[in-house]
Amino acid sequence: MIIKIEDASLWRGSKFLLKNIDWKVQEGEQWAILGLNGSGKTTLLNMINGYLFPSSGKVEVLGKAFGHYDLRELRKMIGWVSTAIQERFYLNESALEIVVSGKDAAIGLFGEPAREDVNRASALLEQLGCSEFSNRPYQTLSQGEKQKVLIARALMAKPKLLILDEPCTGLDLFAREQLLRYIDKLSHQSDAPALIYVTHRTEEILPVFDNALLMKDGKIFAAGRRDDLMTEEVMEEFLDVSVKLDYKDRRHWMNVLAFPE
Ligand SMILES: Nc1ncnc2c1ncn2[C@@H]1O[C@H](COP(=O)(O)OP(=O)(O)O)[C@@H](O)[C@H]1O
Ligand SMILES: [Mg+2]
Repeated sequence: MIIKIEDASLWRGSKFLLKNIDWKVQEGEQWAILGLNGSGKTTLLNMINGYLFPSSGKVEVLGKAFGHYDLRELRKMIGWVSTAIQERFYLNESALEIVVSGKDAAIGLFGEPAREDVNRASALLEQLGCSEFSNRPYQTLSQGEKQKVLIARALMAKPKLLILDEPCTGLDLFAREQLLRYIDKLSHQSDAPALIYVTHRTEEILPVFDNALLMKDGKIFAAGRRDDLMTEEVMEEFLDVSVKLDYKDRRHWMNVLAFPE
């Protein structure tokens, strides 16, 4: 079992951030989490990574129940790619240094890294098509380049679970397709980690993500087979608007027919 969440809720004062979350991710399953801004996606990820503790209910990740396990050890097994969180850590470090430091999930490099780690980091950057800028400072990279560096960094620790939190934010159409193509390739590797792809756009959900968790107002609106949930009926109820959903290249492209006043 990769993730087992049982009736978990999280509140701040009298406000619920997450309510009655029940979710199981089995080995070999690939999930997408879909929800509008503020629906609780990142909060749920914070809980899975052990940065937020459920106010009630149970959370078990990679077979480790929270409260009975060293969270630092657990976090080493989870790669969490989120520009929003990681951007602030890196400025002048080179892409290569950032990837190497991912080995111990540490921020910044202490001491001289081992040759084999540098080689592995270079190989990861090459796989992602980043070799040409591996020595450039992070802050000089484009959004798409940064995103790929963060993915390479997360992979450096050989995680069992890789979470991609809105990885296409800020990417143009072409950079987005390029990144999605890489994620598709990664998902088909024999040693690939379990993947969770978080987005607010249906068309980013690649065919490999055959399960979907729909989040709304801190609650699970629906969970199940992606193709059962990616229908106009379900999406209209989910978003409270009329939509048109087109299926192209095994992805679901959504248009809202009329936005509310
Ligand atoms: N620590 C916190 N204290 C109070 N409210 C929070 C906290 N963290 C997140 N929220 C609120 O929870 C809601 C869900 O946020 P978030 O999980 O970031 O949404 P998403 O990632 O789906 O866009 C938002 O309304 C946000 O303001
Ligand atoms: Mg978020």
